Amino acid sequence: MKLLEDRIREDGLVLPGNVLKVNQFLNHQIDPELMYALAEEFVKLYKDEKITKILTIEASGIAPAIMTGLLLRVPVLFARKQKSSTMNEGLYTAEVYSYTKKVKNTVSVDEKFLKKEDRVLIIDDFLANGQAVQGLIEICHEAHADIVGVGIAIEKSFQEGAELIRNQGVRLESLARISSFADNKVHFVEDADN
Ligand code: G4P
Ligand code: NA
Ligand code: NA
Repeated sequence: MKLLEDRIREDGLVLPGNVLKVNQFLNHQIDPELMYALAEEFVKLYKDEKITKILTIEASGIAPAIMTGLLLRVPVLFARKQKSSTMNEGLYTAEVYSYTKKVKNTVSVDEKFLKKEDRVLIIDDFLANGQAVQGLIEICHEAHADIVGVGIAIEKSFQEGAELIRNQGVRLESLARISSFADNKVHFVEDADN
């Protein structure tokens, strides 16, 4: 998606350790018009899927997710992160390890908000190693909900997350796909439709 790629080129900052800082429009300050444009793209891609629910994870997935829910007029559910996993009654849970932050979180969703009748679109801001999305997929499986697919704003295609998801037969649509940060610049995967 050209709009997002241009914005990443303009306002993204490549940090050591293959991290892209996008605090100007996504991870700290949020550009709602850009989030709305991302959501329009997700809606276009998944228009025939009869989605009943958007599922994301706090915190930064919420912005693109809520715009998508607004356009589809369906609820937006975000998995909560917590450090320990003692009080898990009535919750669907999954363990999510963050390689970036070196912490393991238990992410959870209240059973009452996810049902086997649901057709779920999973949304997140970044896809890197894929552990967060994997956790959301597991939660959908626990609920016996159908996963329509995954919508990602920024995919780091050189990390393993994209393959991890596609190998399970789950549809993945990423609006910007980064192939490398060579020379401290953002390089995008060259797609036919770019
Ligand atoms: P994964 O979710 O794909 O497994 O990736 P990883 O464990 O490496 O990422 C952990 C956190 O770091 C996630 O946010 C993810 O969105 C974010 N992240 C990964 N790569 C980048 C990057 O290049 N730039 C930025 N800005 N973030 C990246 P989180 O811990 O869930 O936090 P939150 O921001 O959603 O609150
Ligand atoms: Na995230
Ligand atoms: Na993040």
